[in-house]
Amino acid sequence: MMKKKIVVAITGASGSVYAKLLLDALQNLNSQVAEVAVVMSDNAKQVWQFELDNEDYNNLPYKFYAKNDFMAPFASGSAKFDTMVIIPCSMGTLGRIAGGISDDLISRAADVILKERRKLILVARDTPLNLIHIRNMAAITEAGGIICPAVPSFYNKPQTVEEVALTVVNRVIDLMGLENESYRWGEKDK
Ligand SMILES: Cc1cc2nc3c(=O)[nH]c(=O)nc-3n(C[C@H](O)[C@H](O)[C@H](O)COP(=O)(O)O)c2cc1C
Repeated sequence: MMKKKIVVAITGASGSVYAKLLLDALQNLNSQVAEVAVVMSDNAKQVWQFELDNEDYNNLPYKFYAKNDFMAPFASGSAKFDTMVIIPCSMGTLGRIAGGISDDLISRAADVILKERRKLILVARDTPLNLIHIRNMAAITEAGGIICPAVPSFYNKPQTVEEVALTVVNRVIDLMGLENESYRWGEKDK
């Protein structure tokens, strides 16, 4: 299997824990990964601090890019990043992508992934949804993106907040095409 070049974008929707768990998991999956590049919006940093009471993203072993750094490799299709995950994805970022408004590195990188027909996964988070959100999700789906709502499942009987959040993150890892051990419905042991 070709090692993947992955962009992880974090935006200011609730659910910084999803981003934390994905970035942690990718460290364990490093034999399948060539590169992980990370970009955070300003609100992502604010929400992470508010929800997780830390700035631990600073300790992660990945290259971080400023949200307006259009010189970042993945701002161009030629750098051949094959997968982008936006986790969590705010309705603001979702709307900018749906509208083709590439005015920051996150929306530009998503635009690039879609034009190159590569894999874009949006872990969209808000509730309830208005018609604008739903139409934007439809537009991104029509353009080839995957809307993977930050909606946990409970059939594996998660016991902690992190276990609940992992039910979403493990689905994201599956969608990325990475081999990962996780709960599988119909298999005997967790
Ligand atoms: C604590 C907190 C939680 C938020 N939760 C959400 C959310 O779940 N979904 C959402 O779309 N916006 C949420 N927002 C609002 C976004 O942060 C805001 O719309 C921002 O402009 C999004 O910009 P970004 O996509 O560039 O991060 C939240 C804001 C704060 C401060």
